[in-house]
Amino acid sequence: MQVKGKEINICVFASGAGSNARKIWDYFNNHPYIHLSLIISNKPNAPVLQMATLYNIPTATICRKDFLQPANLLKLLKHHAIDMIVLAGFLWLLPKELIASYPEKIINIHPSLLPKFGGKGMYGMNVHRAVKNSGEKESGITIHFVNEEYDKGSIIFQYSCPIETADTPETISKKVQALEHLHFPKVLEILANKILKEQP
Ligand code: GRF
Repeated sequence: MQVKGKEINICVFASGAGSNARKIWDYFNNHPYIHLSLIISNKPNAPVLQMATLYNIPTATICRKDFLQPANLLKLLKHHAIDMIVLAGFLWLLPKELIASYPEKIINIHPSLLPKFGGKGMYGMNVHRAVKNSGEKESGITIHFVNEEYDKGSIIFQYSCPIETADTPETISKKVQALEHLHFPKVLEILANKILKEQP
C-alpha cells in the first residue's frame, strides 16, 4: 500500500550486536517508501554501529545528558525526518519529552512473553535464564509500544516457541532470536503503514 509522495523513515536505537537492526535493514533495503534512515546508540563501540557503517546507514551516538534533555536529539530526529523509533536492544528508559513527541510511534522488542520476565534488569541472557529456571513450557517475543516504564507499554504482537526439557538458556535464546528476526520487520511494516495512513 503506497501512498504517493509519502515515506516513512525509521530510526533504530540499539546498543548491542545489532542483529535485529541488520534484519530491519535487509527487509527495508529497496523498500519503495519505508526506510531505515538512522541508527542511534549510547555506546560508541557497539557492533551495531560498525554494521551501520558497513551498510552506509547514518549513525549517531548519544550521551546520557543529551538523552535525558532531548532537545538536540529531537532536532536530529527531525533533521532525518524520522516518523517512527524502534528500540532493538536499547536499555535506557526513554524521557517523557521523547515519548510525547512520538505517540504510539516508539516500538520495543522484548525477548519474552510479557508481562512475564520483563522490567528493569530483564534483558539478554538474564531473561532466558529466568525463563529456564521458572520451568516455563514456552517463551517468545513481545513487540510493544514504549511508555515511561520498562516493558509496560501496550502489547502489539506476541509470538511464542515451545521450551523442551533439554533446552538451556542458550538454546532458548536462539529460538527467541529466530522469532525476532522473522517477525519484527514484518510487524514494523504493518505499523509503518498505519502511521502513513494516519498522516495528514
Ligand atoms: C533482542 O533480544 C531484543 O529482544 C532485546 O535486545 C536484543 C537485541 O539483540 N530488546 P540484537 O542487538 O538486535 O542482536
